Amino acid sequence: MDRALDYESRGREFESSLVRQILLRDIARKKMKIQNISAIVTGGASGLGEASARALAAKGARVTLFDMNEERGPQVAQEIGGRFARVDVSSESDVKNALDEAADAHGPVRMLVNCAGIAIGAKTVGRGEPHPLDAFEKVLKVNLVGTFNCIRLAAAVMAAFEPLQGGERGAIVCTASVAAFEGQIGQVAYAASKAGVAGMTLPIARDLAGSGIRINTIAPGLFKTPMLASLPQEVQDALGASVPYPHRLGDPSEYAKLVVHLIENQYCNGETIRLDGALRMAPK
Ligand SMILES: NC(=O)c1ccc[n+]([C@@H]2O[C@H](COP(=O)([O-])OP(=O)(O)OC[C@H]3O[C@@H](n4cnc5c(N)ncnc54)[C@H](O)[C@@H]3O)[C@@H](O)[C@H]2O)c1
Repeated sequence: MDRALDYESRGREFESSLVRQILLRDIARKKMKIQNISAIVTGGASGLGEASARALAAKGARVTLFDMNEERGPQVAQEIGGRFARVDVSSESDVKNALDEAADAHGPVRMLVNCAGIAIGAKTVGRGEPHPLDAFEKVLKVNLVGTFNCIRLAAAVMAAFEPLQGGERGAIVCTASVAAFEGQIGQVAYAASKAGVAGMTLPIARDLAGSGIRINTIAPGLFKTPMLASLPQEVQDALGASVPYPHRLGDPSEYAKLVVHLIENQYCNGETIRLDGALRMAPK
């Protein structure tokens, strides 16, 4: 009797480990592979882009940083065993050439993380003067046109390669901002550019669905990147305290974790996700 019970429990154990193995294999099949795959991170020389590049490299990706910072870019690239390309994201020829070089050096490009961006502060009418049009155009050119420029050129490259297991050819992550939804006073250009990034996410996902390429956007709240870290400590503390929970600035590694998840999880597509500790920005 005891022996029969033993057989029964061992049988159950065997069955459950078999089921477990099948489930794990099934999950692995539904996860985009990162190891040894070529990735582009724009704005990868600093802040959220740098953290994303480090996280992808730690998972074995072969990363090329597209950035204009020729001091910090090569340094970060060397630290993560990747490459640096001096690229203005809004230039067609810069991005085209650097994509070709990345594919030659690292193989088919399958991942694109768009973090390059700039911010200015100017009101629609400030001290009686209209918002400078060239400044408005410049922010849109880098943040919105630059992001789309990288997406369209990288997606064309991804679409030309054979699909991976499960039919997937690539995954793209973009960076908007909570300013896309509640831009503050003086953020009209920045908010317009980030609203554009959030707004184009779904139509791009639809455009690229037939090629097996996914795209998602992260809308960060307040993150401790060089931009914010340069502010006096009391200002940083006050900004951190304005976040409902956790009561602090976001850490770039927390942003990078979501980037990795959005790339790996094949069912994430066409979405803009806020990453902000429940922050809702006030007018100023
Ligand atoms: N830090 C935050 O709290 C926060 C919040 C919301 C959104 N964002 C967005 O996240 C992204 C990254 O911000 P960050 O805080 O890491 O900033 P950052 O200034 O630390 O990094 C931005 C990087 O983009 C590069 N860059 C700028 N213009 C470029 C161009 N034309 N071509 C190529 N590279 C260019 C810069 O050289 C820099 O390395 C930006 O798009 C920003 O708008 C940041």
